[in-house]
Amino acid sequence: MSVDVMTRPAVLILLGPPGAGKGTQARMLQDKFGLVQLSTGDLLRAAVAAGTPAGKQAKAVMDAGGLVSDDIVIAILNDRLAEEDCQNGVILDGFPRTTVQAKALDDLLASTGQRINAAISLKVDDGAMVERISGRSTCANCGEGYHDTFKPPLADGSCANCGGTELTRRADDRAETVASRLEAYHAQTAPLIAYYADAGVLTSVDAMAAIEQVANDMSKVVQSVIS
Ligand code: AP5
Repeated sequence: MSVDVMTRPAVLILLGPPGAGKGTQARMLQDKFGLVQLSTGDLLRAAVAAGTPAGKQAKAVMDAGGLVSDDIVIAILNDRLAEEDCQNGVILDGFPRTTVQAKALDDLLASTGQRINAAISLKVDDGAMVERISGRSTCANCGEGYHDTFKPPLADGSCANCGGTELTRRADDRAETVASRLEAYHAQTAPLIAYYADAGVLTSVDAMAAIEQVANDMSKVVQSVIS
C-alpha cells in the first residue's frame, strides 16, 4: 500500500523501562488524538491466553522477565498493523525493544510510504519503577490501569472507567521478575534512544512527574508532530 504524504497516518513510539507509564500515557493519547494504542505486551498476553503457538513460546520468556524473540514479536505486530483501525495512526507501546525490531519497523514503514513522527522517551529512575509496578492493577473488563497509591480505583474497588469489579495483577510483576525486565531494558532497549536521536525523531519527557503533568507534556509533543 502506498500512502499519500499529506494524509499518511501518524506513527508514534513510546520508549521507556517497565513501569515508566507507557501504557497509562498511550491510553490517554489514544483517547485525545484518536490514534490506536498497540501494546506488544498486551498482544503477547492475549496470545498466551489464547494458547496460540506464538503464545506458548512467549509465555516462559515473559514469566522470566526476558524479551520474546524478535521473529514472534515482529510477526504479531505486522498482523495487527495491517488491521483497518490502524490506518488512522498508531501509538506503539513497548515496540520496538531491540535494534532488530527497530530496523524491521523502518523497513515496514518505508514499504508503505510511512515514517515515524516521534519516538518519545519516558525518563524515570529505576527505583520508582519497582514501586509503580508493585502497586499496579488492571481492570479485567476494559483494561484501564490503576495504582494503589498514584491512581486508585473507586472507593469500592471498582473501575472508574467501566464499573468493572475485577482488578487483576500481572504475573510478571513480581519483584524478582521486575529486576530481570529492567536488566533486559538497559541491555537491549535503552540503545534505541540513541538510534532514534540519530534519526532525528527523539523527544524526552520527564516521566517522574504526576500522571496528568506527563500527559500534558506528551500531548504537546504529539500535537507538534501530527499537525
Ligand atoms: P509490557 O507489557 O510492554 O511491559 P513493560 O514494558 O515491562 O511495561 P509495563 O506495562 O510494565 O509498564 P508501563 O510503562 O506500561 O507502565 P504503566 O503505564 O502500566 O511487556 C511485558 C513483557 O512482554 C516483556 O517483559 C517481554 O517479555 C514481552 N514483550 C513485550 N513487548 C515486547 C517486544 N517488543 N519484544 C520482546 N518482548 C516483548 O504504569 C505502571 C504503574 O505506574 C501503573 O500502576 C500506573 O498507574 C502507575 N503510573 C504510571 N505513570 C505514573 C506517574 N507518572 N506517576 C505515578 N504513577 C504512575
